[in-house]
Amino acid sequence: MKWAQLWWGLCVAGGSASDCLQGLLELSKYPALPDAVGKIRMALNSGPSPDVGPYYENHGYQPENFYPPLPPGAPSAYPAYPDVYYPSPVPQYAPRVVTHVSTPVVHLQPKCSSGPVCSSRSKKVLCLTFALGAVLAGAAATAVLLWKFMESQCSVSGIECGSSGTCISPSHWCDGISHCPSGEDENRCVRLYGPSFILQVYSSQRKSWHPVCRDAWNDNYGRAVCRDMGYTSSFYSSQGVVDDTGATSFMRLNSSAGNVDFYKKLYHSDFCSSKTVVALRCIDCGVTTQNSIQNRIVGGNSAAPGDWPWQVSLHVQGVHVCGGSIVTAEWIVTAAHCVEAPLSNPRYWTAFAGILQQSYMFYGSGYKIEKVISHPSYDSKTKNNDIALMKLQVPLTFTDKIRPVCLPNPGLKLEPTQPCWISGWGSTYEKGKTSVVLNAAMVTLIEPLSCNSRSVYNNLITPAMVCAGYLEGNIDSCQGDSGGPLVTLKSSVWWLIGVTSWGSGCAKPNRPGVYGNVTVFTDWIYRQMRANS
Ligand code: ARG
Repeated sequence: MKWAQLWWGLCVAGGSASDCLQGLLELSKYPALPDAVGKIRMALNSGPSPDVGPYYENHGYQPENFYPPLPPGAPSAYPAYPDVYYPSPVPQYAPRVVTHVSTPVVHLQPKCSSGPVCSSRSKKVLCLTFALGAVLAGAAATAVLLWKFMESQCSVSGIECGSSGTCISPSHWCDGISHCPSGEDENRCVRLYGPSFILQVYSSQRKSWHPVCRDAWNDNYGRAVCRDMGYTSSFYSSQGVVDDTGATSFMRLNSSAGNVDFYKKLYHSDFCSSKTVVALRCIDCGVTTQNSIQNRIVGGNSAAPGDWPWQVSLHVQGVHVCGGSIVTAEWIVTAAHCVEAPLSNPRYWTAFAGILQQSYMFYGSGYKIEKVISHPSYDSKTKNNDIALMKLQVPLTFTDKIRPVCLPNPGLKLEPTQPCWISGWGSTYEKGKTSVVLNAAMVTLIEPLSCNSRSVYNNLITPAMVCAGYLEGNIDSCQGDSGGPLVTLKSSVWWLIGVTSWGSGCAKPNRPGVYGNVTVFTDWIYRQMRANS
């Protein structure tokens, strides 16, 4: 914003108004590079680690040929990238110097007041037109900026009610009380629950979630519900299963209701003649056609084709920067710290799927990114809410080697020390280079209480984080694994439980890996998929 203001100031002082507006609009498409470059430099210069936890540690791995010249088409009007950049591995408390941009004094003294420039009448008219144009363009630019600001307001502070512009807090969504002007917040409250994907609908009368009785159900309802959840073009199956959630009452379809909205046909009932409820799968996720998973990341093993088909490598200018996980043909989950400015711009990224060796990922090929959505509450200092989404320009075609992982349903109930798997092209030892081949390793979840203990991360672990690894060290994710998956197998399905986020060093005793807790973000993910379809 500061940069834009400065630019605008200089612009009005020295350029034509329409050029200025055009330039400003162009500029607003790109991140403020000069600021960001400063930030990166600062991050890289952050001091060595004091012995009190992860604060100042940044052993960001540094590949040799980082940021080669921008490809043609990349914004050239902006300073080139720094030679070296790696998303910071740990919460950073590097002092953030407010970049002070000294605004040159812009003399707005009207040039027409006197002197030779405005001596003639026609020149006066010209000057006046110019001034008027400048004022109008200024107003237009302010309006654009204001609109952008308002737009981002909703994504920061809440969810928008349809397209009404009203924002409500996410906690008010599906709580049984209507907050939106046309009740959009209580309209289509559905979720898939537990390991068997039981479809549940929120009953505003009872203020609780209930499974949908299979009576009168058909796949078309399933398609509609999947669409509403954010799966724009995918539907896998819906079947009747015996309820395992212990429900005593159901949502039933009123089959005589005629051609009305699915949600309007539902009513609450204690009776369900089929005695089965709907299990809904919107996408064939979490399955691998082959899995030769062996036990070597730090302390892992190289992966075989199709072992981790959801794993993607995210490149910036031909270099692996972060990992990611495929959740639909169009959406990839990664870490927010991977896409901090200037890397929040989708045009810098390319995703590679179904390839194990970095040497087979060619610069220029791969999947282009259309959109990068970082969690609005991501905190770069504490790494809280370290999750982001990338939307591909062209959807993936699923094969044995390219498949989605399942987003965790509420009610999954994992063991406190559930065995999980991590995978990625990160360093195989602390301060090492990224790996040429995809590695994977088994780690176990570590309970928050133990991970937050004084000897481990001393209360740095928030509910939006989950720890996994071994307190004795030796096996862990490391630099370059960020954004990649922490998955677990439950009920024959692989679930995305975590997103590789941070750790103090790699594989050190009492310093396990910390992952973004995907379960707390499933709602947010679906909401983004829905809103950006
Ligand atoms: N922040 C790192 C990255 O950007 C991931 C670090 C994980 N560290 C760990 N000890 N598990 O790749």
